[in-house]
Amino acid sequence: MDQRLRPGSGHFSSGPCAKRPGWNSHVLENATVGRSHRSPVAKAKLKRAIQQTRDVLGIPENYLIGIVPGSDTGAMEIALWNLLGPSGVDVLCWESFSKDWMDDVVNHLALADTRVHSADYGQLPDLAKVNQDNDVVFVWNGTTSGVRLPDGEWIAEDRKGLTLCDATSAVFAMPIPWSRLDAVTFSWQKALGGEAGFGMLVLSPRAVDRINSFHPPWPIPKLFRLRKNDTLNEAIFNGDTINTVSMLCVEDYLDALYWASENGGLDGLIQRSLENFRLISEWVDRTDWIDFLASDPLIRSNTSVCLQLTADWFTDLDSAQQREFMQSLTALLEQEQVAFDINAYRAAPPGLRIWAGATVESRDLEALFPWIEWACGQVRNKLSPGLTALR
Ligand SMILES: Cc1ncc(COP(=O)(O)O)c(C=O)c1O
Repeated sequence: MDQRLRPGSGHFSSGPCAKRPGWNSHVLENATVGRSHRSPVAKAKLKRAIQQTRDVLGIPENYLIGIVPGSDTGAMEIALWNLLGPSGVDVLCWESFSKDWMDDVVNHLALADTRVHSADYGQLPDLAKVNQDNDVVFVWNGTTSGVRLPDGEWIAEDRKGLTLCDATSAVFAMPIPWSRLDAVTFSWQKALGGEAGFGMLVLSPRAVDRINSFHPPWPIPKLFRLRKNDTLNEAIFNGDTINTVSMLCVEDYLDALYWASENGGLDGLIQRSLENFRLISEWVDRTDWIDFLASDPLIRSNTSVCLQLTADWFTDLDSAQQREFMQSLTALLEQEQVAFDINAYRAAPPGLRIWAGATVESRDLEALFPWIEWACGQVRNKLSPGLTALR
């Protein structure tokens, strides 16, 4: 391999994702460390993080935005435990994280009136079958299958139920139709390459009404509790976090938001991600042994891009052998320091998953493709000495 043509950064993980271009630890120098997170100076930063999130994402003024513990999982489970209960629930389930939310609804909250709409990895369930009189729980982008919702047209503006959407690998990279969503969650560690541990919960006025009018019959731990004296604890959405937050992580998130604003805002972020996705698509088009896991182009994710090897010599292997092959391939790429963490998610079909969000540089992706081809040839040769052809 031509060692001169290496990605400048091999960070293509789907979470935590690559830091923004130019990031270094000096951006943390002004972090409010060693101070109470409730001090005026720290609280001002928390409020700024909320306001900047609203500005960059274009979240409507009448929606509330809160910083919550437990990253996206925390935010989503806070939404499920506080909002669900009074009506039936439809859950859309098409990859690993959506299965987790289904498990929460069906087995842990154990809500009786529940319908699950499932699809295999690489596909979407039939959106026309969703009952919008019910609450609906779904992910916007399935990070582990590389499948995203095409748009929000299937969600009625005048729906009766609430829509609870895990958008962690979609925000900052895809347009989000806020008026069709009632509770939206995401984490800092994903599309802007922030630090892990904290999540964002965005609530529509209808979600707030639900919190004020419905009192779940189950206990809610303090860490998940959105109510105080039986009504919404609005302070949480004004920079008063439920418990202590890391001001280092807040500083890092503020830096990421500042970078986003300076680089074209939401449109700029989406364009960067779409350009990355275009480069991957062109490579897939000209490479006859690799394809998208999602066969329908309309539902292909432009952030967590999932690919599968389609050559006969690979598909003839059994699933354990395929996993072993992908393990060796991705280990070789790591050893060469050209790509880290691009093996498919452990529960997904064997393949590659390459993050193509805005913090990834296009030129790094372009430099990566020949390395994948080279590594694939090397591993195949080990499997069947003398064979390096990939078709
Ligand atoms: C769609 C989706 N939901 C939830 C999670 C869990 O996120 P976190 O670890 O930030 O809680 C992830 C992480 O990759 C994800 O992709």
